[in-house]
Amino acid sequence: MKKITIAIDGFSSTGKSTLAKSLAKSLSYVYIDTGAMYRAVTLFAMRKGLIDKNHFNKEGLVESLPTIELHFEYNPEKGFAEVFLGQENVEGVIRSLEVSQYVSQIAEVPEVRRKLVEQQQSFGKSKGVVMDGRDIGTVVFPDAELKVFMTASPEIRAQRRYDELIVKDPNISYEAVFKNVVDRDQIDTTRADSPLVKADDAIEVDNSHLTIEEQFNLILDLAQERI
Ligand code: C5P
Repeated sequence: MKKITIAIDGFSSTGKSTLAKSLAKSLSYVYIDTGAMYRAVTLFAMRKGLIDKNHFNKEGLVESLPTIELHFEYNPEKGFAEVFLGQENVEGVIRSLEVSQYVSQIAEVPEVRRKLVEQQQSFGKSKGVVMDGRDIGTVVFPDAELKVFMTASPEIRAQRRYDELIVKDPNISYEAVFKNVVDRDQIDTTRADSPLVKADDAIEVDNSHLTIEEQFNLILDLAQERI
């Protein structure tokens, strides 16, 4: 059977990673969460004091880029690869609202994008990969055999993200999560380098009113037509 590349792009909290993970599992493909890579670089910048509420030392971050060691390790219990910063598994800490508040600023920096895109292209060079993000179908793998662009209303996306975060942090407010979703959409769609935009040949899926199973079956059928 032929191996293909599946690119899943779209707005934040549209359930891209849930879909991508189950597709990768069912096709025995590798799953790469590129948002986790931008989040890990953000965590690095926060820990080094390069970004906070009041300042962002972009030059300092660019200078430190060669020292950032990012890699994925497959976790057989979870069934997907987790992101590591050096020797540390950072999968659990990169999903916080604090990291979410800075990540889109970090992802605007062309040098950051260049480093991560290069790594993403090397992960996918043998095909058999499902990658999710914002620029996979437009920049990372413009020749991907299947491109999906996921959307849902901001209210529904914020509610989904809030439901995830409230379990870990009871002090979180829906309003703060909603603001973060809308702010990230704004930065991600208007940045100069690789903005979030639907590739011409991507299939748009508005999943506001689709169950996870309905989305999975829809995309799996599309993948199987191309294999
Ligand atoms: O997918 P996730 O919401 O975890 O991504 C976090 C942020 O990383 C996005 O809001 C976006 O700013 C950035 N990102 C990006 N390009 C990608 C993946 C994520 O700019 N391919």
